[in-house]
Amino acid sequence: MTNKVLIIDDDVDTLKLVGLMLERQGYEISVASNGTIGLAKAAEDKPELILLDVMMPDLDGYEVTKRLRSNPALAHIPIIMFTAKTMVDDKVAGFEAGVDDYLTKPTHPAELTAHVKAVLARSAQAVAAPEANAQIVGFLGSRSGIGTTTLALNSGVALLDKGYDVIIAEINPGHGSMGLELDIQDPSGLSNVLSRSLKDIHLRSVEAEIVNHSSGVRLLLSSFHPRETELEQAVPQIEAVVSNLASMCDLLILDLGAGLKPFTKPVLQQCDRIILIVEPVYPSDAMGRALLQELETSGINTSKVGLALINRVGTSLQVPWRQVESDLGIELAGIVSPAPEQAHQASQAGSPLVDSYADSLVSEQIRKLAESLLSYLHPPKG
Ligand SMILES: Nc1ncnc2c1ncn2[C@@H]1O[C@H](COP(=O)(O)OP(=O)(O)OP(=O)(O)O)[C@@H](O)[C@H]1O
Ligand SMILES: [Mg+2]
Repeated sequence: MTNKVLIIDDDVDTLKLVGLMLERQGYEISVASNGTIGLAKAAEDKPELILLDVMMPDLDGYEVTKRLRSNPALAHIPIIMFTAKTMVDDKVAGFEAGVDDYLTKPTHPAELTAHVKAVLARSAQAVAAPEANAQIVGFLGSRSGIGTTTLALNSGVALLDKGYDVIIAEINPGHGSMGLELDIQDPSGLSNVLSRSLKDIHLRSVEAEIVNHSSGVRLLLSSFHPRETELEQAVPQIEAVVSNLASMCDLLILDLGAGLKPFTKPVLQQCDRIILIVEPVYPSDAMGRALLQELETSGINTSKVGLALINRVGTSLQVPWRQVESDLGIELAGIVSPAPEQAHQASQAGSPLVDSYADSLVSEQIRKLAESLLSYLHPPKG
């Protein structure tokens, strides 16, 4: 595959010279003569590497770097800052803005190629997923607010009690509630890691954001700041987070929120088992059916999908579970009855339902749902 390199420099001679040198080495080149055009070209061309000048009339190189780094779709692209400056302070400012490497003008062709090669090799290595050991179970809501987080969290705790080394990750940036339910003050772990460039998402940086809860589960939580919703577009980063988490535990439970987000399909491909959560009431059941169809047409193997029916409010208008099961054509994995008081009390106490109301019907039902997964999972290690 040819590597695409974008050169952003207001000096036409540099553009020509550097462009020519790299073209001779087999790279595909695009050029931009100022920062604004550079940002637009980066978004359009999605280069594998950007060579960036510091001093430019509109946006300087630092500003271009910051904007690239704050755009989830572009944040992972490595940047070599290309400058006439040799002052240490400038280099520090560049690295702080998120630059990967420096080249000082005028550059010898051999030095230029060596740096370009090294940075591309490093970023390819960072993107390569670590070896995943964990089995991954994704919980997906057919619509929001129906209890996906509650079921993911409590099933995870129930499986921890079965001897699995579990991590639960709430992949729902900007809409997180698991931290609030567990009385964890700053549930910003996922946002912190997704704000990094792809090459900086690795075992250490992901591990640093994991929270240990007193129930014994390890958690990666989503914040509830609506502005962070845009991080759901950081698909390669989210996939990298999932791969890294999967190398740290033997069972990874994902709360994927509701419906189809940009990351949902790629992450579902990474899952060994998927629990689709549906409320057996119109129109939630119809939404569940539509979601399942969409997954099927986009190549997700629906034989790995199990159905969890949750009824948060008692109603006589409920559709019989056998009918929902046959409408959807997937196997029933569990049914959860209304327990508004207990759900509320558990979140007030900052403790999962299956711990705070261990003997209740709802906990019994969630444990059964978790147990239904066991026939699809390898037994816990050790
Ligand atoms: N079986 C139940 N009966 C009654 N209320 C419940 C039940 N399970 C969960 N709840 C409550 O319903 C509310 C929504 O649950 P939860 O946050 O798990 O839903 P969600 O589908 O993850 O929502 P979102 O789409 O916002 O992420 C919470 O207040 C939770 O305590
Ligand atoms: Mg939720």
